Amino acid sequence: MDMLVVEGRRPLRGTVGVSGSKNAALPILAATLALDGPTILDGVPDLVDVHTLTDLLTSLGATVQRLSESRWQVQVVDEAACLADYELVRRMRAGVCVLGPLLARRGRACVSLPGGCNIGHRPIDLHLKGLRALGARISIERGYVFAEADRLIGADVDLTGPNGSTVTGTANVMVAACFAHGVTTLRGAACEPEIVDLGRFLNAAGAQIRGLGTSVLTIDGVDQLHGTTHRIIPDRIEAATLLIAAAITGGELTLTNVQHDHLTAVIDALRQIGVTVDPCGPTGLQVAARGPLQATEIIAQPYPGVPTDVQAQFTALLSLAAGSSVVTDRVFPDRFLHIPELCRMGATIRREPGRGVITGVSRLSGACVMASDLRASAALLLAALAADGDSVIRRIYHLDRGYERLENKLNAVGAAIRRVTDTPENMPASLRMLGSLPLTTEEEPSPIPPPKFLSRTEDEAARRAVP
Ligand code: EPU
Repeated sequence: MDMLVVEGRRPLRGTVGVSGSKNAALPILAATLALDGPTILDGVPDLVDVHTLTDLLTSLGATVQRLSESRWQVQVVDEAACLADYELVRRMRAGVCVLGPLLARRGRACVSLPGGCNIGHRPIDLHLKGLRALGARISIERGYVFAEADRLIGADVDLTGPNGSTVTGTANVMVAACFAHGVTTLRGAACEPEIVDLGRFLNAAGAQIRGLGTSVLTIDGVDQLHGTTHRIIPDRIEAATLLIAAAITGGELTLTNVQHDHLTAVIDALRQIGVTVDPCGPTGLQVAARGPLQATEIIAQPYPGVPTDVQAQFTALLSLAAGSSVVTDRVFPDRFLHIPELCRMGATIRREPGRGVITGVSRLSGACVMASDLRASAALLLAALAADGDSVIRRIYHLDRGYERLENKLNAVGAAIRRVTDTPENMPASLRMLGSLPLTTEEEPSPIPPPKFLSRTEDEAARRAVP
């Protein structure tokens, strides 16, 4: 297993290119299972999650070829399989995105339930509600969803859940509805840019989806979708993480391959914190943090709000902003496992139900910390970039699931991050030494007797007694 060793307090300066979006690429790759003919995808990020999904596609009868760094071709050659195995789905929740395409195209799907997750409860009841409304027969047995339908029928269905819309649930039901007989109206649909990108991809393949980017989608069913070519949108979460990296190090960065309107809420929040963010051409952004950071309130909520996927990174940033800040997560109210780790670096954050209350500190101190999930890893890396001294981030396989070579991109603009095997010898000396320091606890008798402080009367009496 690898860990990252980060030398802190180096301002970032330079230009960084943003990769294609993970959360757009995954459902689009899954949807290729429903297409006839070869599909070419550009801007596919090189991530562990993408490789896991392409393994899943291969197990389901697709040939997947990497034509160049970020260009992939997928073609289904065998439609017999309908089992999405636990071993692949447990490694990546987005594996559940094959449910809609398999059901729609093959009439049957057997997809492992994804299981536990460090960011909180993540049921798929809304996915199943939508597919049942289209006429699928669904049961859950032995940890798998079994779904079957002879012919899906268009329906009017509301996917609103207790925490708003569901992103991958909308993806699953939208793909299935493309093949349903008649018209489907999806209410409470996710408006996230990744769902719009999936919808555009499907429309380019022959689907008839209207209302993309709004909460009501109208889908006219078709008999077939054909292969197509599509470019994946830039990753707004990676872009936001890089903007915050510049802000937390007091640096100046130019980002390329950015879609400005996808980042409106993030940019507004950064400006409130005192960070300068300006467009730079149609697909660039310049960010600079020249003054002190200011406290603010952040509420993570469905698009167009601040994404839950940057809540942890904002928490890290605001831990260094003077005053009191509050960060609330309305999408995943339990997604706060990064708080205790940030506190180990000197942050002062109190966890309350659904939110973190931060009292800004003037410095963070490098420490050995443990990543608990993808975005928590990014938050700890950002804190480490700003901290005094060296930090070590362990369990960084989470980071590799969703960021394309993040440490290389950061090193190219001035960071000093080393990826090493997680062994005691690879711990930086400054953190390793701590174990060998002699510890003195309050209970232990001190070798030197403490000085005796006398009260004023005792003192005077003692002085009078001196001959
Ligand atoms: N929910 C339900 N029932 C469902 C589905 C969801 O109650 O059937 C609830 C969830 O518990 C949560 C809320 O609805 O409270 C939103 O969950 P959603 O279904 O939208 O999440 P997701 O589709 O499983 C995607 C992203 C996540 C991102 C969320 C929210 C992908 C592959 N994953 O997950 O990305 O946080 O939407 O925007 O697109 C990440 O990239 O780090 C990540 C976790």
